[in-house]
Amino acid sequence: MKIAVVGTGYVGLVTGTCFAESGNHVTCIDIDQAKIARLNAGEIPIYEPGLSELVQQNREAERLDFTTDLAGGMKDAALVFLAVGTPPAADGSADLTSLWKVVDDLAKHLSAKTIVVTKSTVPVGTNAGIFRRLKERTGRDCDVVSNPEFLKEGAAIEDFMKPDRVVVGVRRPEVGEVMRELYAPFLRTEKPFIVMSPESAEMTKYVANALLSTKISFINEVANLCERMQADINDVRRGIGHDSRIGFAFLFPGVGYGGSCFPKDVRALASMAKSVGLEPTILNAVDEVNTRQKSVVPDKIEKHFGGQLAGRTVAIWGLAFKPRTDDIREAPALTLIDRLLAGGAKVQVHDPEALENVRSQYGEKLSYFEQPYGALEGADVLAIMTEWKQFVQPDFALMRKLMKSPIIFDGRNLYSTSQMKAAGFAYHSVGRASVV
Ligand SMILES: NC(=O)c1ccc[n+]([C@@H]2O[C@H](COP(=O)([O-])OP(=O)(O)OC[C@H]3O[C@@H](n4cnc5c(N)ncnc54)[C@H](O)[C@@H]3O)[C@@H](O)[C@H]2O)c1
Repeated sequence: MKIAVVGTGYVGLVTGTCFAESGNHVTCIDIDQAKIARLNAGEIPIYEPGLSELVQQNREAERLDFTTDLAGGMKDAALVFLAVGTPPAADGSADLTSLWKVVDDLAKHLSAKTIVVTKSTVPVGTNAGIFRRLKERTGRDCDVVSNPEFLKEGAAIEDFMKPDRVVVGVRRPEVGEVMRELYAPFLRTEKPFIVMSPESAEMTKYVANALLSTKISFINEVANLCERMQADINDVRRGIGHDSRIGFAFLFPGVGYGGSCFPKDVRALASMAKSVGLEPTILNAVDEVNTRQKSVVPDKIEKHFGGQLAGRTVAIWGLAFKPRTDDIREAPALTLIDRLLAGGAKVQVHDPEALENVRSQYGEKLSYFEQPYGALEGADVLAIMTEWKQFVQPDFALMRKLMKSPIIFDGRNLYSTSQMKAAGFAYHSVGRASVV
């Protein structure tokens, strides 16, 4: 099939590349000229494991190309995927400005047979709205499919190639069959292809993200409670996780969730509830607990210094909102950086992939280190904000030598308390007694 993907970000680039890999001819379109120029020069604008090789192979096979020209890019396409950003508006609802702009632009070039597929996460009713808008602009009924994406940054290729399920929301069964054919190469292990209405598909995406966020806020709230009641959240986790009704997934205490999806999707779902007169009590609490959780490490560090951050040097390991990505959108590390800078501390940061993104936001206000140990030199304390594998078994003796004082605030519970006691560190983690 010939496919166009509009919006070549984390989702659009992976989607386009994986569809090319399964034999389709894909054109990825974006308004960002610099991004398209880099892609055409063989550079990948984001860090996503395995993506670079796959893009290169499919470009060489002439199944994948990149353009800023919407009309040319979608010419003869059987399917046009919309994968533009839907960031949060000031009131928490999803900002659909980019999406409507694309819909209006593509209406001018849409052939009668082309199916429009919405991959962006959009509020319930948006696909119906796209249908109406296209009808107004083209004068005919167009097929509009909701096809929410469930990939995780850091494992996006694997998730796209081997999805747990594919969800499509369609009005006509024939259109569902086209989508089934497209996804068939990715569903060879009998994973389900689930067909429903566009409204249910749109809702499915928000409910999935809201439930995952709820698990994180829940475990964070009880972790804070454990810490004050001499219970150990790791033991409690083991105690509950073996219950087959509960399990272990997504019940890791930490510094709160970040990224471009969970925070905005929880708020957007809450905003949808309010728009129909329902009070989103749980969703509001999930968001509130998460906002508070992002302050737990900053609060502890400030308290450690008696409220006086000025003149202190704080090292931070991990800036991306999670490992294996360079994405720093709503990353908890940024909340810490902001607090430290506001208090006058010197901040020395390291991340394996996100340094450039952080540098473009903070410039010379921070000291950047390509290597984790470099960031420790002269540091009063170390804060660990992302659980990169590289940080799991560090050289503690070297760390002690480099730091002014051996003190770690671990927002990801990477080490055992007994290990840290033996290594001679003061160690403050989440939901466990501190080693002092
Ligand atoms: N990032 C994820 O892990 C993830 C996972 C599942 C779903 N989603 C959803 O997918 C959508 C895209 O997310 P993302 O993280 O890929 O966003 P992104 O910001 O990385 O990419 C969006 C791209 O769209 C482009 N764009 C904006 N306006 C355009 C226009 N008029 N024409 C062409 N291109 C335009 C931007 O330049 C950008 O490159 C969002 O709705 C998001 O909620 C994201």
